[in-house]
Amino acid sequence: MEFDKIYKFIIQRCYDLNIDESHAVKHSMDVLKYSQKILIEEYKSNPKKIYNEKIIYTASMLHDMCDNKYMDEKEGINDIKNFLDTLNYNENEIEIITKIISTMSYSKVKKNGFPNIPNYQDEYNIVRESDLLAGYDVERCIVYGMIGRDFDYIDSFYATKELYEKRMAKHIDDKLITFEYALKEAKKLDKENKERLIEIESMINNIPINENNNIKDKENEIINEEMYKNINNLYY
Ligand SMILES: [Fe+2]
Repeated sequence: MEFDKIYKFIIQRCYDLNIDESHAVKHSMDVLKYSQKILIEEYKSNPKKIYNEKIIYTASMLHDMCDNKYMDEKEGINDIKNFLDTLNYNENEIEIITKIISTMSYSKVKKNGFPNIPNYQDEYNIVRESDLLAGYDVERCIVYGMIGRDFDYIDSFYATKELYEKRMAKHIDDKLITFEYALKEAKKLDKENKERLIEIESMINNIPINENNNIKDKENEIINEEMYKNINNLYY
């Protein structure tokens, strides 16, 4: 695996295309991390099953380097194809990797459902679910709103809160997460990030910390549509 060359490519793309930190190197590494963790758990429960790690890791690292928030998607895919061609990837690997990354986003899955990728459906789902796990991150959403959409911190927080309740909080019920590790981690991250939303909201509303020690009881109050700013289609 050409980790050094792939990360050099990602860093250069982020500079060239102004990809902000919410979708840059750290995000790519988070998705790579979750993919590996899903694989570790899958191999534990079924050691005989074979996954194509090269395809999973490469797609995880590169998955946002064709994102239409930052570039023309087709051009992005072409650039990735040309780049992988310069490394030791064959035609089939390049085709599968680009198929995975061009069909895995939340909005595409919501619109088109899961694609059919014969022999590589698990690879697709591992990368897709890893990206969802990396999406349970309130601060990352706020950063994207501020840098990608030019929102102020507080506006971006409320947009994030709305998005979180409409999207991330429903991933498990929407059956978008299937692997054992991913489900366990999603539940943990969802709980942490719901608490984080309450903490930030208390902070920006000047509620003293010692009056806010019943944070867990407030979890159910988190949905209060009236106070959200109506900003749609923020992310993805
Ligand atoms: Fe992503």
